[in-house]
Amino acid sequence: MSSASPVLRVCRRESFDAAHQLCDPKLSAEENRARYGKCVNLHGHRYQIEVIVTGEMDGASGYVVDLKQLADLIKTEVIQHVDHHNLNTDVPWLEGRIPTVETLAIVFFERLRPHIPSGVLHSVRLWETEKNWAECSRGE
Ligand code: NI
Repeated sequence: MSSASPVLRVCRRESFDAAHQLCDPKLSAEENRARYGKCVNLHGHRYQIEVIVTGEMDGASGYVVDLKQLADLIKTEVIQHVDHHNLNTDVPWLEGRIPTVETLAIVFFERLRPHIPSGVLHSVRLWETEKNWAECSRGE
């Protein structure tokens, strides 16, 4: 294989507000508190989602993917379902899952991947706080 061909990635960032609590229903209150600390209490985050698409630049448009279309996709597949909702109780496709930032990154990746209008979904990085993020990316 030849090497060093340039790789293009483009990214759209969006944000939403949601509430959650970290709690495994199979564990006791004491066990959940030992595992998750104060995150067992219902609380909110302003999440930021970064969706990164890789691919060839279209010669005519100069785009890898139309970022307006990508923004609309993030809104319809993710944000309208989760914004100002409780992630433990309000989102059918999160039912039965513990809504850690890791879980959310995986589920958001899986929801977006089939619908990327051009290029390939490279990764979804989800910021839960200023200090914490999780990223789900496609296998090589
Ligand atoms: Ni939290």
